[in-house]
Amino acid sequence: MFTDADAAALYDLLNPWDGARHPGDAFYDGLVMTAHAVLDVGCGTGSMLRQARERGHRGRLVGLDPDPAALDRARRRTDIEWVAGVAADASWDREFDLATMAGNAFQYFVGDEELSTSLVAIRRALRDGGRFAFDTRNFQVRAWEEWKPSNASEVVDGNGRTLRVSHHVESVVDDVVTFAETTSAHDGTVLRIDRTSLRFLEVSKLGAFLSEAGFEIEAQYGGWQHEPVSDASRSIVTIARRT
Ligand SMILES: C[S@@+](CC[C@H](N)C(=O)[O-])C[C@H]1O[C@@H](n2cnc3c(N)ncnc32)[C@H](O)[C@@H]1O
Repeated sequence: MFTDADAAALYDLLNPWDGARHPGDAFYDGLVMTAHAVLDVGCGTGSMLRQARERGHRGRLVGLDPDPAALDRARRRTDIEWVAGVAADASWDREFDLATMAGNAFQYFVGDEELSTSLVAIRRALRDGGRFAFDTRNFQVRAWEEWKPSNASEVVDGNGRTLRVSHHVESVVDDVVTFAETTSAHDGTVLRIDRTSLRFLEVSKLGAFLSEAGFEIEAQYGGWQHEPVSDASRSIVTIARRT
């Protein structure tokens, strides 16, 4: 048995939030700690907001995610609002200074309609001049080409089990990549397969979606040290402002 709760715990093990070690985490930490009210869209297990509170953030912190098992982990911290749901259904109106989508969560907006309605809802949640910060992998670098079983990683989970996590791309249709993540026991027994589709938007298309939803790009980087965006940038990091 490998439950949804096990999968959420494994996510935290493989992706520990640590601003001292990961420049991407430090980038978001800097924005969050200086904003009074923050909405983290696709918060997952909530590690970014939980750490912000631990480090003394005194304002309003809200995490939104459709995954109940991830939210169960987030809810271990009760001084943060945790909300179940997808971005498109969010109904906050001018309540936040900052919205974030860390860890490439933005790529889960796959269809044009879902992307547009999600952006409109995120914009509505922001106060005038509020900012939306997110990262998304650059289509041109084709990161999915490295998502193959030979690049599997091994990890020892909280119960002392050695687990193997591997990826296999099933299809690439236009800019949408569908892949399977297989979690196996040390002896090769498959415990779980999760299928995900992610969209890899090009810079110009991303800009068009943002502008149509009522955002202007305040800053856009090709990396966490504020490098300019180029064809070789692995990530596109965007700070957009509600106009
Ligand atoms: C890769 S995880 C990132 C989690 C967290 N932001 C982090 O950096 O560790 C992506 C998260 O986006 C959530 N997600 C997927 N579709 C979503 C949607 N339409 N609206 C909001 N969140 C969504 C998933 O449930 C998942 O927890």
